[in-house]
Formats: sequence, structure tokens, C-alpha cells
Amino acid sequence: MIANADPKANLSPYADEVRAAIDRVLASGRYILGPEVEAFEREFAAWLGATACITVANGTDAVELALRAVGLRGGEGVVLPANTVSATIAAVLAAGGVPVFCDVDPATMNLSAAKLRELLYSPRGAGVRAVVPVHLYGHPCAMVELATIAEAHGLLVVEDCAQAHGAAIGPRKAGTWGHAAAFSFYPTKNLAALGDGGAVVTGDPAIAERLRALRQYGWRERYVSSGDGGRNSRLDEIQAAVLRVRLRHLDAENLRRRQLAALYAAELADCGIVLPPQPNGETPVFHQYAVRTPGREQLRLWLEERGIVAQALYPVPLHRQPAFAQWAPSEAASLAECERCCAAVLSLPVHPALSEGDIRHVAAAVREWVAAGGR
Ligand SMILES: Cc1ncc(COP(=O)(O)O)c(C=O)c1O
Repeated sequence: MIANADPKANLSPYADEVRAAIDRVLASGRYILGPEVEAFEREFAAWLGATACITVANGTDAVELALRAVGLRGGEGVVLPANTVSATIAAVLAAGGVPVFCDVDPATMNLSAAKLRELLYSPRGAGVRAVVPVHLYGHPCAMVELATIAEAHGLLVVEDCAQAHGAAIGPRKAGTWGHAAAFSFYPTKNLAALGDGGAVVTGDPAIAERLRALRQYGWRERYVSSGDGGRNSRLDEIQAAVLRVRLRHLDAENLRRRQLAALYAAELADCGIVLPPQPNGETPVFHQYAVRTPGREQLRLWLEERGIVAQALYPVPLHRQPAFAQWAPSEAASLAECERCCAAVLSLPVHPALSEGDIRHVAAAVREWVAAGGR
């Protein structure tokens, strides 16, 4: 079977290093917010080119606490795409924000700068205070354009980098463009822990200080809560030690993902399905290799019958999900591109434990489906 994600296979080349790191923590007697966490925060910030990293319990908390730390106040509008995972909107709601969906660019499936500008000048733009660009599938958003618009409108920017560890625009990594950026270390992510984990990075020391308080009961001084009291969202030492090992291999793994993606692009060129965009000054990290075809469900089943797991990520846009439909815009056409993406998108296996032979095998099965009349 060729899996869409395989955390165990991805970990196995480093299993001995990871075991040694875990043993070190077991022997240390410090299990939460200790030296491993501090070292990982320093190393991850340096690797990204950010000033500060504050680890938290998971990626959803990272988005929520980042929004609160940059200064979002309850009832203010937060722009986000509707073709992301529910975690992004759950975090906006937990931060007290009002979700405002904006359509995406059909080429990248990421937040469209043109649509954002349009939205901000429309009645729906009133009350918008922040924007959450999601670097979906590891393809970086158009941050130069989005940051320019955000600055012109005085908006706070929190990047959702849960799928984009190491993605870049020019030399500048995703996560260093906004006022703050959120990462997830869920076991299937490009940078993966052995459980839940997350982090916020920022270039602003005041935001970093607020985050350190927010993640632990509002403590600036031990046992003295300030602000709104914060809460408990801490990373443990074992996860931090594992992440330090895996961070050392991340550049090589991201390169491997790009090589596998380039092989897909060569094998599937001109076969009639839409492939991820060719990079144009960006460096994607292919958390997913998301192709598009109107026959997505038939292709998924065709692949499944051949032992290949492909996944529709994400099949139902947020504004069509029962929990979030109340924030759907009144003119449904305003999210037309997003709806087209959700109806057609399918992630082919692309993780670093796959071989070139695996990718050729998947690509051949896709081509056979097209030849058999699919699409
Ligand atoms: C785009 C995006 N944002 C946020 C999250 C939330 O991360 P976590 O699952 O660690 O809470 C995820 C992870 O699934 C994600 O893919």
C-alpha cells in the first residue's frame, strides 16, 4: 500500500537519534517547558529567520494565541480562506474573532490578494482587523501583495504555517512576513512531533512576551496572573527533544518532497488533470501534492482499488459546514474559486519515505484512469 501520510516510515531513518533524545529527557527529570523546549525555540527561530519562537500545545492554539497576542479584540473581523482545515476557523473563533471568508487564487488555491482588496472595500470589509493567510499544502501565499494590502488597511497579519515549515518567497521563509505566524507539529506535518505540538514565531518582542504569558495562566511572574489570565498551552520536553532531532533533517526532507513533486510534474504533464503551480520565485514544501480534477472521487476510488491512498483535503469548504455556515457570505458566488477547489482537489502521496518508483507507480495509475475515460 502507498499511504498519503506515513509518520512511522518518515521517522524510521532517525529512530535511534529520537530514542537517544527521549532517553535524555527521561533522565533529566524536567518534562514540561524546560531546557529542550528553550533550545528548540532558539533553533527553530534561527532556522526560520524569526526573532522569537514560543512553543504551545498544538497548531490550533498557536493560531488562536497568536491572534490574541497581536492584539485582536473580541468581535473584530478576521479574514481567512474557506478551503482550509476547520482548525483555522476554530482558532479564529476561540480568539473571539468574527470569520470573514475571502476567495482564493485559482492557480495557487491560496488567499487571493485581488479578492482581499475587493473584500476590504466592500461592506463585508467593515470591522475587519486581521487576516490569516494559510500557506495551504506547503505552497506559500502571495505575501508581498497580501502584506502590502494589510499595511495599507492597518490589518494584523497572522500566518497559518501549519503546512508550510520551510516554504519561502525569495529568500524569506513563510512565518516571517506577518506580525506573528503559527505552526503545527502534528505527526503528519513536515516537521513532526510524536504527539501534539505547536509554536508561534514573531519578530516583535512585545508579542513574544504576551505569548509567553498567554500559554501559562497569564504568568509574567510565577504564580501571578496578568492580562485575561491566559491558559495552559505548553509543549513538553519529549516533544521538543524529538523536534530538535527532526529539525536537523528538515531541509533534506523538504528537498526530497520537492524532488518527488518534480517527478509527478514530469510524469503527469499534459495528462488532463490540474497540477500544483510551477514555482515562480517561491519555494514550496509540498506538505501535500494537490491535483485537481472534476472526477476527483472516481480517481480516489480508482487509486484505492490499486492500493494507493489519496485524500480529498478538504472536500467541504468551511462556509458549507454546519458549524460555520452562519458566516457564509450572502452572495455565494463570492467564494466561487474556493468551491471549485474543494470539489476537485485530491492529494497524491508525496511524503519523504516514498521512492521514485512509488511516485512513478502512482502517476501511472493516474494516467491509466485518464486513458480509461476519467477526469
Ligand atoms: C492549515 C492548518 N492550520 C491549523 C492546523 C491545526 O494544527 P493542530 O492539529 O496541531 O492543532 C492544521 C493541522 O491540521 C492545519 O493543517
